Amino acid sequence: MGKRIGILTSGGDCPGLNMVIRTVVSHATLTYDWEVLGIPYATQGLLEQKATTLSLHGLDLHGIDPLLNMGGTILGSINKGDTRAQAKDIIAGYEALELDALIGIGGDGSLAILRELASQGNWNFVAIPKTIDNDIAFTERSIGFDTAVNTVTDALNRLACTAASHDRVMVVEVMGRTAGHLALQAGIAGGADIILIPEIPYSFTKICQKLRELRDHSIRKFAVIVVAEGAKTTTGEISCYTDSLGEVRLRGIGQYITEQLPFCREKQLDIRLTILGHVQRGGIPSAWDRIMAAAFGKAAIDLVAQEQFDHMVAWRNGEVVSVPLELVIDQSPSLVSPQSCLIQTARSLGIYVGES
Ligand code: F6P
Repeated sequence: MGKRIGILTSGGDCPGLNMVIRTVVSHATLTYDWEVLGIPYATQGLLEQKATTLSLHGLDLHGIDPLLNMGGTILGSINKGDTRAQAKDIIAGYEALELDALIGIGGDGSLAILRELASQGNWNFVAIPKTIDNDIAFTERSIGFDTAVNTVTDALNRLACTAASHDRVMVVEVMGRTAGHLALQAGIAGGADIILIPEIPYSFTKICQKLRELRDHSIRKFAVIVVAEGAKTTTGEISCYTDSLGEVRLRGIGQYITEQLPFCREKQLDIRLTILGHVQRGGIPSAWDRIMAAAFGKAAIDLVAQEQFDHMVAWRNGEVVSVPLELVIDQSPSLVSPQSCLIQTARSLGIYVGES
């Protein structure tokens, strides 16, 4: 008998999610003749027992497939809510929808919540990693990261032109939570002079020294500073606030850096701040994110076919592999290693990346 598979997207969105959905529907229906139910707004959809059957024809627009290049998620997503208190009703939703398995696309927080629900409700659960932060353990890449690196790189190229015209210092704040992958990779690709990431503390003295060097000994009279939202000083200062739900959120590091740069004040340098914000989460998914989304979607359906549940698909050494979810959840986020080749590369390019 054909299976009925649920699919949902949970946590912060990113480009590439629709391509996963498209592939899951395609592989499940064409290869296995299964039905795929799209569950709106993650656990909210299960709670309300809402779902729509997704068919390949329904996803087409006059033969053209908009899901290939559409950012966001057609299923909607949520990243808050008291799932513990609502666990019983969410689990009842899985049963009421008569699902044989559930595919959840999420970051580490969402996957931990979904796994807990899956174990309480005895769900057949398979996970797919996504996040522009690229910080999920056991996978080298998560969906959305590549597009975000391209978006930030493009912004840095644009900012460098205007910075050069006015001999300005541009401070650019990027996302990433406690991981510096996005800032580091985009910073290298976009020609930054200074990259500040959470994993390597920075000092204002060294930032000023770097700006002075550029000013006095280089033909380049402008500078681009990329700062990850979770960057820390050598004395451990970060910029954050507590939101109305009591959650600590990173915010304000760009402003802090801009205000604290004594060299800029002393030399009356013109300094401007750009906070890229949620621009980094939108846009057309890159070719690589689409390819990986397709490979992950296909592999997730195959895991369901093999009844290999409680696993996450992952990207390792140019292949899709599967990892027990327990390992992923127990592991701390994947961060930039201060000894990594990309940190060494940045230093070899003369970029200040914090204290060695
Ligand atoms: O985890 C992805 C992410 O974009 C982080 O980089 C950022 O700190 C956070 O989500 C922003 O969350 P929200 O969309 O809730 O503001």
